[in-house]
Amino acid sequence: MYQDMPSLCEAYADYFKIGAAVMPQNLTAQRNLIVKHFNSLTTSSAMKFGPIHPEEYRYDFADADAIFAFAKEHHMAVRAHAPVWHQQTADWIFTDRFVYADRELLLERLEDHIRVLAGRYGDSVYAWDVVNEAIVDEPDGYLRETKWYKLIGPDYIDYAYRFVKKYAPHTQVFYNDYNEFHPIKRDKIVRLMRGMQERGVPLDGFGLQQHVSIYTNLDDIKAAIEAYAALGITLHITELDVSLYHPKDRPNPYYPKHFTIPSREDFARQGKMYEDLFAIYRSYSDVIESVTTWGVADDLTWLDMHPVPGRKNYPLLFSYDHTPKPCTRAIVDAVR
Ligand code: GLA
Repeated sequence: MYQDMPSLCEAYADYFKIGAAVMPQNLTAQRNLIVKHFNSLTTSSAMKFGPIHPEEYRYDFADADAIFAFAKEHHMAVRAHAPVWHQQTADWIFTDRFVYADRELLLERLEDHIRVLAGRYGDSVYAWDVVNEAIVDEPDGYLRETKWYKLIGPDYIDYAYRFVKKYAPHTQVFYNDYNEFHPIKRDKIVRLMRGMQERGVPLDGFGLQQHVSIYTNLDDIKAAIEAYAALGITLHITELDVSLYHPKDRPNPYYPKHFTIPSREDFARQGKMYEDLFAIYRSYSDVIESVTTWGVADDLTWLDMHPVPGRKNYPLLFSYDHTPKPCTRAIVDAVR
């Protein structure tokens, strides 16, 4: 079925790269779709601290190597993702035997980790999400009090960017965050990045995750793009998916029979949302360099586990059977 649709990334060659975040299982299960429609891959969980560096003297490069090899074989660009985050980080890095590691030890370990990853992959990476999700969602707070923050101090962010630029000077370094279109959080993200610029910390771009839903306000998205673009940096859409459920719909996982089921209208609304989003992205294609979905097709999506396990979601551009959704054809038709 998918063979009779033109390639999404070829259609968008004059606008931006079309990317997907993948793990090796995507590369086998969804191979045809990936090869045909995408020209950028993000290393999903494969280069997060915990998965790739589970013990002090042991790295596990297998997943990342597989993604880089696939990208090379198919001439795709690669976005590396998230060494410094509050999740999926191995505990060993924060400890020194039985107590917490101190600032010096933690910075030394971070630099060493980045030196190793940059040495192995740096030349093949066009953009790297260095720090992920450092800002809180609550209206009152500012920086998230992660272990990085508590043990190093707020300048852990500046160090991380300097380390990546030191060992991978040709890679663009990005800050990446979610709920980035909510006005209050948006302003805090702008404050963080402007501060980095004022301190002379390297920062090439911002990744708008764009985990949106069929209820997201498009004016907020436009305002966010404007606000980030005003910093003079490159923008990437890094984790796009369109949930069929309202973000406040967080059902009890112990009562799956109470889960809501999407209606035809919800799917229609999703199609409209995707078409409108791509129209907005096109209108900012002078600042947007790539648009990446978090996954490829609805058979493999993190939203089946989030916010609760077991509620099926269908958030991507390709269906669970790998056929393109009507909106995906429309998104291509819009530029032909
Ligand atoms: C966040 C992270 C990603 C990924 C997604 C969901 O947005 O940035 O690395 O974990 O959640 O899977």
